[in-house]
Amino acid sequence: MMENDIFDEIIGFLSEEGEISRYADIDGDLLEKFNSCKSPGAAALSKSKPMIRESDVPSDSAGKKSDTVTYAESSSKSHGDKRKELEDLAGQVTGCRNCRLHLDRKNTVFGSGNPDAKLMFIGEGPGADEDEQGLPFVGLAGQLLTKMITAIQFDRQDVYIANIVKCRPPGNRNPFDDEATQCLGYLQKQIEIIRPEVLVLLGAVPLKFLVGKTGITRIHGNWLEYKGIRTIPTFHPAYLLRNPSVKKDAWDDLQKVMQAFGKVYRKSP
Ligand code: URA
Repeated sequence: MMENDIFDEIIGFLSEEGEISRYADIDGDLLEKFNSCKSPGAAALSKSKPMIRESDVPSDSAGKKSDTVTYAESSSKSHGDKRKELEDLAGQVTGCRNCRLHLDRKNTVFGSGNPDAKLMFIGEGPGADEDEQGLPFVGLAGQLLTKMITAIQFDRQDVYIANIVKCRPPGNRNPFDDEATQCLGYLQKQIEIIRPEVLVLLGAVPLKFLVGKTGITRIHGNWLEYKGIRTIPTFHPAYLLRNPSVKKDAWDDLQKVMQAFGKVYRKSP
């Protein structure tokens, strides 16, 4: 049983204000109110680091500031075509024996969600619960991820969730370089099929293998790019469970995702 955290608080706060619903816009003043009143931790954070900074807003190719996502060209494929391509790819993953991780698996964990997702989350690899069920992020870390997704006004069924490796590394260790490299092609193909507008990298492993960077504590919350797709690293939910004080930093990062989707509006100019 997870204790209440900043994600429960924001979900509760926005629900009370009648603001929580999927793909809804959020009143920025309410968010500020939450950040400054409801959570002392977040209040301190928002003083030192404004919730939405001008520099966080991407420039388009003409250098014009834009507060909505325009980077990735959305896929021209139909929902049915994407579903079929993902199913075919999942079939390949089920039979994969490219690395040693296939030896101990109960199930491959391909990924799950909406083939038309605009937002995609990338984790490391399956744990015991995921290996058992063949689905990503279904254990405790998954429960936290679901709350993180709800807090930014998305519904878990509308996003897509996948991992760097599709089979469980023994003892939940990080995947070795050769395992991740052997598996990466599947994830790259998933991203190509889904073509989301924003990728959220959960922790150091996807940061390393998808965009070739290290230093999650330094880089989290900064916009990066993966094949023309706006990409933002934040902390892995399992890390947040072990280090609850870092949840406010993850919340700060995730607010940038809401902002990128133009979900935060201001009543007053
Ligand atoms: N951790 C991950 O990185 N992925 C999962 O699917 C579950 C836990």
